[in-house]
Amino acid sequence: MSIHDLVAEKQPESFVFSAENEALIKKIIAKYPKGKQASAVMPLLDLAQKQNDNWIPMKAIEKIAELLGMARIRVLEVASFYTMYNLKPVGKFFLQMCGTTPCMLRGSDDIARCIKDKLGIVSGESTEDGKFSVLEVECLGACVNAPIVQVNDDFYEDLDYDSMEVLIDSLSNNTPLPLGSVKGRSGSQAETGPTSLIKMKSKSAKLKSSIKSKKVSVVSAEKARS
Ligand code: FES
Repeated sequence: MSIHDLVAEKQPESFVFSAENEALIKKIIAKYPKGKQASAVMPLLDLAQKQNDNWIPMKAIEKIAELLGMARIRVLEVASFYTMYNLKPVGKFFLQMCGTTPCMLRGSDDIARCIKDKLGIVSGESTEDGKFSVLEVECLGACVNAPIVQVNDDFYEDLDYDSMEVLIDSLSNNTPLPLGSVKGRSGSQAETGPTSLIKMKSKSAKLKSSIKSKKVSVVSAEKARS
């Protein structure tokens, strides 16, 4: 793959961080020990992407390299390695669809099918109206609630064909569904609700009541003796 496949053909002539981001950048760089400023490359790429409609132009790569004293190619290496960075324009809603084993076993193929049916696009493509882009990615780190689709910075979990359809409609109407599990699971709790803690709770209630009744019988015996 050449650099031309990786980056947008049409590039802006300049890129300048906003005053607000300049101030943030100073704070971010100050977090790292002297001589280790290059470690700030990822948050700076993220800032550039957020400032520029969800993609990073080459002029921003150059700017970040200059700010961190890095070779441009080192910044580009990082930006092109992680799928969360876009080096080409993407749709308003960038769908990162996990296709790794746990999500695949829990139905990620149905999610891809739904996206194709509803939006007419497959991984690497965008809708003509520029509203949606989709990319199949590796594990998003939320396997316990698989299958997962990340929409820009937000995770939608426990999806299936039908709920993906509802999610796409909600995004199209600019009224996105609440984040997290579409089944309403709290965190990564079992689908049947909490079990082990409930058992612990009932055990501790039994223990408390047996201690209480023992205390009562000791007090009554003492009273009887006196
Ligand atoms: S495999 Fe999909 S989130 Fe981990």
